[in-house]
Amino acid sequence: MASARGEFSSRFGFVMAAAGSAVGLGNIWGFPTQAASNGGAAFLVVYLIVAFTLAYPALMAELIIGRHAHANAVTALRQLSNTAPQRLIGGTTGLIGLVVASLILSFYAIVAGWMMAFCIASLATLAGADSLALWLTDFSLERNILGMVAFMGLTVAIIARGVQDGIERWSSRLMPVLLLTLLLLVVYVLTLDGAMDGLRVYLLPDFGRALAPDLILKALGAAFFSLSLGVGTMLIYGSYLDDRQNLPLVGGLVTGVDIGIAVLAGFLVLPAMYVALHNGVEIFTAGGELISEDTLIFTVLPSLFASMGIAGVVVSLFFFFLMSIAALTSSISMLEVPVAYTVENHGVRRKQAALAIGACIGLASTLILLNFETLFGLVVAVTTRYSQPLIGFVFCIYVGWIWHRDQLLQELRKGNPEVARGLFWKIWPWWVRVVCPLIILAIFAQSLL
Ligand code: TRP
Repeated sequence: MASARGEFSSRFGFVMAAAGSAVGLGNIWGFPTQAASNGGAAFLVVYLIVAFTLAYPALMAELIIGRHAHANAVTALRQLSNTAPQRLIGGTTGLIGLVVASLILSFYAIVAGWMMAFCIASLATLAGADSLALWLTDFSLERNILGMVAFMGLTVAIIARGVQDGIERWSSRLMPVLLLTLLLLVVYVLTLDGAMDGLRVYLLPDFGRALAPDLILKALGAAFFSLSLGVGTMLIYGSYLDDRQNLPLVGGLVTGVDIGIAVLAGFLVLPAMYVALHNGVEIFTAGGELISEDTLIFTVLPSLFASMGIAGVVVSLFFFFLMSIAALTSSISMLEVPVAYTVENHGVRRKQAALAIGACIGLASTLILLNFETLFGLVVAVTTRYSQPLIGFVFCIYVGWIWHRDQLLQELRKGNPEVARGLFWKIWPWWVRVVCPLIILAIFAQSLL
């Protein structure tokens, strides 16, 4: 059975794939803009604390369940169950996770389609095809659908190839490209006039804002989204890990890369905003608040690039290329959730499953695009604000309360015989059992209010 399943060929491959999933639009856009409007460095500190104390333990819960079962979330949660009701709840949670992963992909593919359109528009500008560039950057139904379909096509093509040839190979190729592109952009932007003002905002803490209670919860939501938790993505990636891997260590590496890239992206986005301000582009509302996140990325940055002449076109090309790559290594991890289930539990061939499910999600995206004003925000809120924390809560309950402690230890020992003596085993088991569920409930209660 295990040999028929895919498996990552190395620790590097796994870390690239899981970090590729984690690093996405959430890190490169979401985190920096939230930091900008919520107290700069103080938000950064809160985010770091939340990421290591809550998101990392929750990530470990998913990785351990997945690696133990070597199966998708539906099968894995059923396996951990001791009674029929537990089995039912476990299986249902897995299925809901699969639907949520698909819905997240349905809006993510729309935004990623815009990123690709902006990237190709820069190429068109360089080639002198100005009317094409204009069409690509203008908000139209045709452009939106074309971008989404192109992006879904790439996602399906990678997932159809499976774990090693698809997910691992492409993540290992694309992640270094992403890091390099990001570094180049950071270095370039920091040389421009106005960049230092952005740096100051990013690095000078305003604790008054960062310690507001809703802000801590915001940081928590951002960290959960950023580590791809609460839909079974990390569970399924964990299921492709071999038993020799030291789980607390690989989980720590993934968390570290994810946070590192978010922090690094802050050195690009905040200075870029203030460079834009320096060049006469509006970034604040009349009330002194930062203008909304989506407006920032699709109007502020392009007008910044436009004010920089030909160099701006090249920088724009790099920037939207970076965003497209980050989105692609994330979207494949969403599509893998329903595809893995369909392949393993219903015997469908991977290519067919990827194509059929990809088509259904593309249809859902089209529906969202046709009713953009009502559906887009709704789908984002239902999936990320409500479903992710709740499903993450169930994962923690299964690891903390339903799974037997000695079996849990046995699973951890496989890749790390000394684990019982370390700090991880002293803290983590009761932490996922008590602290994580309580705090997740707190986020949930908050979002209901
Ligand atoms: N973590 C990714 C980002 O920051 C998005 C992502 C990938 C995701 N897979 C996920 C979010 C699963 C929620 C669930 O952009």
